[in-house]
Amino acid sequence: MKKIGILFGMENTFPQAFIDRVNEKIAAEGIKDMMAEAVLIDTVEQGKSDEYAVIIDRISQDVPFYRAFLKNAAITGTAVINNPFWWSADEKFFNNALAEKVGVPVPKTFILPTSQRPPDTSETSFRNMKFPFNWEKMFDTVGFPAYMKPHDGGGWKSVYRVENPEDLWQKHGETEHLVMMLQEEINFKEYFRCYVLGTDNVHIMQYEPRNPHHLRYVLDGEPVDQKILDLVHEYCIRLNKALGYDFNTVEFAVKDGVPYAIDFCNPAPDADINSVGAENFEWIVENAANMAIEKAKQYKKGQMNLTWGSFVKDQIIAEKPAEEKITVKKAVKKVAAKKAIVKKASVKKVAEKKEVVKSVSPKKEVVKKATVKKSVAKTKSVKK
Ligand SMILES: Nc1ncnc2c1ncn2[C@@H]1O[C@H](COP(=O)(O)OP(=O)(O)O)[C@@H](O)[C@H]1O
Ligand SMILES: [Mg+2]
Repeated sequence: MKKIGILFGMENTFPQAFIDRVNEKIAAEGIKDMMAEAVLIDTVEQGKSDEYAVIIDRISQDVPFYRAFLKNAAITGTAVINNPFWWSADEKFFNNALAEKVGVPVPKTFILPTSQRPPDTSETSFRNMKFPFNWEKMFDTVGFPAYMKPHDGGGWKSVYRVENPEDLWQKHGETEHLVMMLQEEINFKEYFRCYVLGTDNVHIMQYEPRNPHHLRYVLDGEPVDQKILDLVHEYCIRLNKALGYDFNTVEFAVKDGVPYAIDFCNPAPDADINSVGAENFEWIVENAANMAIEKAKQYKKGQMNLTWGSFVKDQIIAEKPAEEKITVKKAVKKVAAKKAIVKKASVKKVAEKKEVVKSVSPKKEVVKKATVKKSVAKTKSVKK
């Protein structure tokens, strides 16, 4: 039985709709030995969490116990959506650097030292920091107003718009142990939030973050230039390919026709019908169900079935050809060397055989001579 599970927290609408849709599709398509359900955990033993072929993770960012459970499930072969290892490594500041690498525009961004020292550190823990810190350079590059937000955050928590250095320092003082980013403000005309499933399935939603929460997903927005939509689509795919998320949302602020990626590390994105609206909800339920069934079909027992982005894959592949070349070269040399040895050996054998023949024949001759001698002697002695 290939089981598809969903792991979730406080959300109320998406999980059950997802389970129902997957089971309906399984029944309609007549797929045997597959079902969807809410994940149920009673124990977690190392190397033994192999009950599910696929798990959609909607909550491990808030429950470290679940993250550990999912990594354990992944090593036993569960296709965890999204990859719990990459999610653990990932954060917004690194993502911005990666976006630059893959040619997706992002606002200019710096990270700031924390307002309070991390627990169990003292002044001497910071001897690699140059004081005074170069605030001027950051302010000149980013400008004001600017955004200040956690480098590893979500759900609009501790996101500040800062007007000037004094405002920044005052708000920075509230952030305690959070590592904050200082980011150029993109004074946008259009804003988009996009569901991105895998590397080819994008659903672009017009979004107005300046509206009250329940009115942010714009229903009858102004028509948008197709060129901008095409760029947004292209950038969504580029980012998800690099990151390797199966299920993500990517946000863009568009200024002067250029979409800047603002927030694209959302592996458990909002999918509540009450905030995304009925149409977007239908899209994500239908497409997430299709993706989960596809993953379950591709699932191979006993293998790792996770998705990795090109950032990780390229590191491995980039090293492989060099290694392979060496190995191939070595292998060719080895084969050639073996052939030479074989040749030498056979030549040697032939030579040895000849030697043997040679050495045998004289011996034979000696033996022959000796026999002749003996018989002559015999004869001689007889004669005597
Ligand atoms: N650089 C920026 N320029 C303009 N608006 C921004 C910028 N960064 C964040 N915002 C606004 O703040 C909101 C929350 O920031 P975001 O980076 O999406 O954080 P979270 O991950 O908490 O959602 C965005 O939806 C956007 O409206
Ligand atoms: Mg956001």
